[in-house]
Amino acid sequence: MRAWWFRSTCRFSGAAELGTDLACYNIDDLRLRARRRLPHGVWEYMERGTEDEAGMARNRAAFEKVTFRPRVLRGVQAVDTSTQIFGKPSPLPIALGPTGSAGLLWYKGDLALARAAAAAGIPFTISSASTMDLEDIAVAGGRIWFQLYYWEDRELSHTVVDKARDHGIDTLFVTLDMPVPPNREYIYRNGFGTPFKLNPRNTFDVLTHPRWLAGVMGRYALDGGVPSQANLPDRLRSKVTKGAPPGALFKQDDLDWDAIKSLRDRWPGKFVLKGLLHPQDAEQALKLGADGVVVSNHGGRAFDSSMATVDALPAVVSAVGGKMTVFLDSGVRRGSDVVKAVALGADAVLVGRAPLYGLATAGEAGVTRAIDLLRAETVRTMAMLGARNLSEIKPLLD
Ligand SMILES: Cc1cc2nc3c(=O)[nH]c(=O)nc-3n(C[C@H](O)[C@H](O)[C@H](O)COP(=O)(O)O)c2cc1C
Repeated sequence: MRAWWFRSTCRFSGAAELGTDLACYNIDDLRLRARRRLPHGVWEYMERGTEDEAGMARNRAAFEKVTFRPRVLRGVQAVDTSTQIFGKPSPLPIALGPTGSAGLLWYKGDLALARAAAAAGIPFTISSASTMDLEDIAVAGGRIWFQLYYWEDRELSHTVVDKARDHGIDTLFVTLDMPVPPNREYIYRNGFGTPFKLNPRNTFDVLTHPRWLAGVMGRYALDGGVPSQANLPDRLRSKVTKGAPPGALFKQDDLDWDAIKSLRDRWPGKFVLKGLLHPQDAEQALKLGADGVVVSNHGGRAFDSSMATVDALPAVVSAVGGKMTVFLDSGVRRGSDVVKAVALGADAVLVGRAPLYGLATAGEAGVTRAIDLLRAETVRTMAMLGARNLSEIKPLLD
């Protein structure tokens, strides 16, 4: 089913054809297909930033400014992209970041993401806003991480984290770059907020995307109805289209370092703070015992005046690099972006929208396609540079 679906949408039949595929040459091709397939309101939720979207553009512009001074005649027939992330081997310096809306893009989208990541041998991060229970995602196998936003009820957050630990998850990401909800004006304009209320505009939008309506919502309807916010105890679960009941809203405006320290002390595994840009925050994270940080501005989805992550990375690396794992995300669309992040000192990148474009286009096969594209471009970029492994990249920065 998935192979048929993917061929019909992207005319692609295997990784060996990466160079000859007629219709999906890069992540942007997947993006354009995703845009056609999704209702406008769902598309904008996945794609857009906040306010004037200067932050998203800044992330991309910062990547484009980075250039290299390649070396020649270095025998690049066997480029090695492998690395270690938290002491475990990974074939690529790439992991799938947490993205809460996957189940709206594809039926059981979280599982499709997890399966594709497992097949590629790279980690997948479950979002605390996911619509599937973590035990149902964990059946995908592979390396699965968990991301936390604090709920209004702090104890509830601890219960959820304990559950992740009991299911064998060994790495926890805590996202800190949304102390207050972001200003996403388009959600109100499109009428896709929660609680979701039908109006002529969003009804027309959904009805004019019958493939999505039948393939995603239709399948949920046959399978128990609109998905709920998972990860919560039964008494607090509500359909994603309904408002959250008291206690079940995310709330982080009262969060401080002491709260993070007590979570660190409670969590036995690897502990990562996501959404830092300031080197002093990274130093503080190191001091309280975190194992890693993600230099992230949430893909430009949180604060439109945030600096680009590529510009923030070097200071964070010089503050804590080598002492903890430094990830970067926000704006990664090409293998060359992965190589640039590594050149600037990141140990690995997280990708958010890139695999979601694949997911919305063709489910698991589309995510696999996104990962294959990033892998092929990473290898090609390294070969062009004369870098035979990741440690040879940094000296080639211009
Ligand atoms: C649709 C969508 C949902 C997201 N949901 C979450 C989330 O639940 N938790 C989180 O920490 N980050 C979330 N993010 C942010 C990503 O983890 C990541 O930081 C960001 O997407 C990176 O930028 P990129 O999309 O340009 O790769 C989300 C991003 C997108 C696009």
